[in-house]
Amino acid sequence: MKVFVLNGPSLNMLGERQPLIYGTTTLAEVEQMCRARASQHGFEVDFRQTNDEGRLVDWLQEARHGADGVVLNAAAFSHYSLAVRDAVQACGKPVIEVHISNIFAREEFRATSVISAVAVGVISGLGVQGYLAAIDALAGILGEKGAR
Ligand code: DQA
Repeated sequence: MKVFVLNGPSLNMLGERQPLIYGTTTLAEVEQMCRARASQHGFEVDFRQTNDEGRLVDWLQEARHGADGVVLNAAAFSHYSLAVRDAVQACGKPVIEVHISNIFAREEFRATSVISAVAVGVISGLGVQGYLAAIDALAGILGEKGAR
């Protein structure tokens, strides 16, 4: 089983960027944490970050045949990118939307994600632990699928 963990704009700055909101863990550390958790489930991880909307769409298209499930923190694209939403819907694989911060407790524009309705579920506000919760959730979802 292979899981894509896809990260959108400015998440490459994790650890330095607004640490009071996003914490001090770097994206490289999140990647290591995801790999460790995924290996407990026997998953391979493909961990990526881009500041480019089109590249994120390309990766979601790639997931259609290249992944069994996706953990997606689309960052600011979550709030307005119908292109990313359509790509999530078209990818045909379970996508778990993750936000490090609690998007419902911040500025009003963050409380709406155009992706949530086409994701399997949403994890928001658990810090970087949300990525691990999403991997656990995918293990449950994919395990159930495999058992059928
Ligand atoms: C974020 C929340 C978004 O509103 C913001 O634009 C981000 C990160 C989060 O992980 O909390 O870049 O997705």
